[in-house]
Amino acid sequence: MRRRDRLAEDGWVAEFTEIYEAMRATPMNDWVGGSDPEQVGDACVALLRSLVQLNGESRVLDFGCGIGRGLVSLHKSGIRPRQLVGMDIMPPVIDFCEQHIAPRLANTQFELIEGDNDHYDRFIEQRDRQSHAALSAKYRDHFTDGYAFSVFTHVTRDDFQKLLTFVASMMKPGGRFLLTCFELNAYSRHMVMAGQSMFPLDRQRMADAGNIFIANPDDPLAFIAFDAGLIRDMVWRAGMAVTKVKYGCWMGGGIGDGLQDLIVCTKLPEIRNAQDVPMTALVARDPVAKSPSLTVRARRLLRRLTS
Ligand SMILES: C[S@@+](CC[C@H](N)C(=O)[O-])C[C@H]1O[C@@H](n2cnc3c(N)ncnc32)[C@H](O)[C@@H]1O
Repeated sequence: MRRRDRLAEDGWVAEFTEIYEAMRATPMNDWVGGSDPEQVGDACVALLRSLVQLNGESRVLDFGCGIGRGLVSLHKSGIRPRQLVGMDIMPPVIDFCEQHIAPRLANTQFELIEGDNDHYDRFIEQRDRQSHAALSAKYRDHFTDGYAFSVFTHVTRDDFQKLLTFVASMMKPGGRFLLTCFELNAYSRHMVMAGQSMFPLDRQRMADAGNIFIANPDDPLAFIAFDAGLIRDMVWRAGMAVTKVKYGCWMGGGIGDGLQDLIVCTKLPEIRNAQDVPMTALVARDPVAKSPSLTVRARRLLRRLTS
């Protein structure tokens, strides 16, 4: 590496170090889940990049960005998106991001948005916040990619649907949005009921006809799991479809890369004219059977198999 490039790289690394140090020093790091912010951010980004292709042309939404652990690690991983927008309902975390991150990361901005959350309301003071309607209009069909780490693990069923619909309105058709959640499916239900999941979950806490699981009735949004079919239905109602899933290790039994389940939703693409759809040619079986390089026996066998 040339000296000038090395100095630029050193300056770049120093910028990240200063941001992570500010994160470590603020009590807000505990509000968003605690642990070392750099390690958490890097782990989230590794999972994101294993499922969603990002590059310098991406316009990325970090929904429920908190103090920006994910988006700083995204830059650190070498992705410099064309635009990166962090949104959150808590004024202090957005203030933190505007003070410590926006001046240092190119093309990055933050929006303080409306919303209530019983788990976070104690940190929300009265301030003017952008309405969903205003942001839907500002960013309509805009983001190519997006993610929400540890947000849909802390919202009510009504908010799950409302927030997905809001996010979908801002995604470009065909755009990908990764969310983390706790999914109730045959395996996770079995493991929770058998007392094998990674958290000490009370097995009796099923609600909403068994579609929702709440760990702590005193703080129901601290840990909330939703039925797999219910999640797919809500994603579909929002105008997206579940296109990839990676399960987390919270279920127990040694499965999963991360802690939470990862679900990639794709906003339904625009419908094209039939002649504009790039189709793969069907395999023609006849010419293979007539290929001169096949022995007579092989050709006979192929004909018998394909007739
Ligand atoms: C556990 S923290 C995770 C923060 C960040 N994604 C991270 O991984 O560091 C959950 C975040 O979701 C935000 N949140 C909760 N309800 C929300 C809502 N209705 N709309 C947007 N953000 C919300 C909270 O304010 C909080 O910052």
